Amino acid sequence: MSQPLIAPSLLAADFANLQRDLNLINRSEADYLHFDVMDGEFVPNISFGFPLLEAARTHCQKPLDVHLMIVQPDRYIDAFADGGAAIIHVHHEACTHLHRTLTHIRERGCQAGVALNPHTPVEGLIDVLELIDVVLIMSVNPGFGGQAFIPHTLPKITRLKQMLTANQSAALIEVDGGVGVGNAAALLQAGADILVAGNSVFRAADPIEAVQQLKNSHRPTMA
Ligand code: DX5
Ligand code: ZN
Repeated sequence: MSQPLIAPSLLAADFANLQRDLNLINRSEADYLHFDVMDGEFVPNISFGFPLLEAARTHCQKPLDVHLMIVQPDRYIDAFADGGAAIIHVHHEACTHLHRTLTHIRERGCQAGVALNPHTPVEGLIDVLELIDVVLIMSVNPGFGGQAFIPHTLPKITRLKQMLTANQSAALIEVDGGVGVGNAAALLQAGADILVAGNSVFRAADPIEAVQQLKNSHRPTMA
């Protein structure tokens, strides 16, 4: 098990103190800033869009990991690529032509991610594996931060890891929703590479320390 990549989720930041919170992320060992876009249609909530992306790009030194929880994501891929996204995740459930969408993301120089809701089987990705850089396993129903981790997504990660290995795919596995120090080691054991963490980082007494703890969660704890 190697050291995970950590992606704090901006959704849990204090927007009245955005620059302070982005500076905390800059000073931490975080590898990405996770940026949740919600349209009120694909998910029952609306979050934020391009003005905040511009602020994150300007004030955050970490690469942007953009999670599009929106219908018809193809309409916005160019805008998010222009806005500085390093990774763009589209939801499998929102894409009629997933092959075309992933090709488009890569043509724009971004890493292509596919997010799967808790009910969506990993096996549906088998025919587009070669176009995927990251699979984002949703471990809550998307739409809100601070929800409880759904346990059946753990064996799902194991199944995905087996599928990637069997098909010589180098795609990374990212997990999003209800992730914290209590379940990080189990997620890494199952095959996760990137951990998204909203509340467990921004609502911690010391967010920098919280990132570091997640980063070290691959180490076996002393008995
Ligand atoms: C949920 C979002 C998550 C969310 C995670 O729909 O995709 O990225 O911010 O928040 P926590 O870590 O608090 O569950
Ligand atoms: Zn997310």
